[in-house]
Amino acid sequence: MSRGRIVLAVIAMILVLGLLVFSWIAFGPGAMDFAGGHRVALEKYSGTSPTGVPADFASTDPVARGEYLTKAADCQACHTAKGGAPFAGGLAFKLPFGTIWSPNITPDRDTGIGGWSDAQFLRALREGIDDQGQHLYPAMPYAAYTYLTDADALAIRAYLRTVPAAHREPPPTALSFPFNQRRLMSVWSLLFNPKRRFEPNADRSPAWNRGAYLAEAMGHCGDCHTPRNLLQALDNRHKYAGAVAAGWRAFNITGDKATGVGGWSDAELAQYLSQGHAPGRGTAAGPMGEAVDLSLSHLTPSDIAAMVTYLRTIPPVSTPDQPRPATGPAPATHRFAAADSAAPLGKKIFEGACIGCHAWSGNGALNGLATLNGSRAVNDPSATNVAQVIISGASRRTAQGQSVMPAFGHAYSDAEIAAVANYVTTRFGAKPSSVTPKQVARLRKAT
Ligand code: HEC
Ligand code: HEC
Ligand code: HEC
Repeated sequence: MSRGRIVLAVIAMILVLGLLVFSWIAFGPGAMDFAGGHRVALEKYSGTSPTGVPADFASTDPVARGEYLTKAADCQACHTAKGGAPFAGGLAFKLPFGTIWSPNITPDRDTGIGGWSDAQFLRALREGIDDQGQHLYPAMPYAAYTYLTDADALAIRAYLRTVPAAHREPPPTALSFPFNQRRLMSVWSLLFNPKRRFEPNADRSPAWNRGAYLAEAMGHCGDCHTPRNLLQALDNRHKYAGAVAAGWRAFNITGDKATGVGGWSDAELAQYLSQGHAPGRGTAAGPMGEAVDLSLSHLTPSDIAAMVTYLRTIPPVSTPDQPRPATGPAPATHRFAAADSAAPLGKKIFEGACIGCHAWSGNGALNGLATLNGSRAVNDPSATNVAQVIISGASRRTAQGQSVMPAFGHAYSDAEIAAVANYVTTRFGAKPSSVTPKQVARLRKAT
């Protein structure tokens, strides 16, 4: 063969390989493909409809139904700034190449969506195209909301018309080239937005289908819990196997026994989702705490049970970076050789600022929520969420009132936070962490 031919053959091989890699990324499985079976159009499904509000809510007025669905879809979490008016936008989504700001979706005509037609609203929600015809970034989970029925999407719209109009213009989104080219999102959308409504799976139970609708069309669990591919779309080959969301680790929630939630009972899962805590399994903080407060805690027990039914069928994926959580309390004495020598500064801080609520045993002196043992966060050798909880604190509504862990982000330096985080994982977890002050600085910036 001549040299020219060899060069040509090599180029052809590289092109074919590139095409294969691209197809592998672009044409992965859809969110519910793992379930197999055959899907039917909603009108043809013979079971109870998986869409709309649960039966206990069906007799309420349209606005109350819309409110229930708006909470299930958790629009408020992203469309509200810290301490800002609900739905008035202004929450920052920090990316390596700039910041996306969530818009105001209150009925204000100038700065909100009061002037939008229903058709424009449906298009933004499910296709990711705004009233000006501009493409939205997938920070807005339209690839999940695309599964919403017209009726449910319009019920959400009806509720949003009743929230107080806030006159507030969030800062403009500013990304660097080429990411500032919104038109590129049309290609993304073509590849990764399924652009179809929810189709029930005829081979699964009505509860499973309801759970699928709640988790995929509404709660967009995958947005945080499914890792992303090179093109920032969800990689459903590792569905729900865990990912990092806004500087927090959203853990593996597949059926894997050691590294996912396969070892949890149905009751534990239901309690964690509806109350943000299950004894011996930890307490939801950060973005999950918010999802519980604003969304999941408002769902009926039947809807939570349906979601658990669905979660149980997610194929197990093992994530060996997460060890099986340590069981049982740490010793009730202050001595703990491994932790004492690994993080002496951490011990000093823990003794001074933390044992009052957490106890040397980690069993929670304050209340059950403050139990450190068994929590995935405490057993995660990256200590990401442990550091985040120390930085931002956490708070949870209980029957006895608000239970609060104060934020220590202002009180402590990066080195102090790293030291106490490493002390906590070494003393109470399965594997010690070695978070550095530099990593803590990065975590602060990511939230
Ligand atoms: C995970 C975060 C997130 C959630 C949840 C979310 N949004 Fe958004 N939404 C965004 C972001 C970010 C943008 C702006 C995207 C951009 O600038 O390209 C946006 C844009 C929009 C827009 C376009 C507004 C405009 O002025 O251009 C509408 C309408 C909207 N969202 C409605 C909703 C509704 C209704 C829900 C709940 C069903 C919801 N969003 C849930 C993050 C979210
Ligand atoms: C905005 C991001 C986000 C969304 C949306 C979200 N999660 Fe989470 N989830 C997290 C984070 C972060 C954690 C870890 C919380 C912690 O350590 O305190 C978590 C933890 C969990 C856990 C506990 C796992 C463990 O091993 O401790 C379960 C179960 C869970 N989520 C289920 C769900 C389900 C079901 C949905 C959809 C209805 C959902 N999550 C939606 C971010 C999210
Ligand atoms: C005033 C009581 C109080 C103090 C002081 C306190 N905590 Fe907490 N902590 C709590 C409560 C309550 C929770 C559960 C909060 C929630 O998630 O809603 C918690 C949660 C945590 C968690 C997450 C547990 C899980 O389930 O994932 C960690 C880690 C933690 N605290 C570490 C610390 C450290 C380190 C200190 C000292 C620097 C500290 N706490 C000080 C009350 C406290």
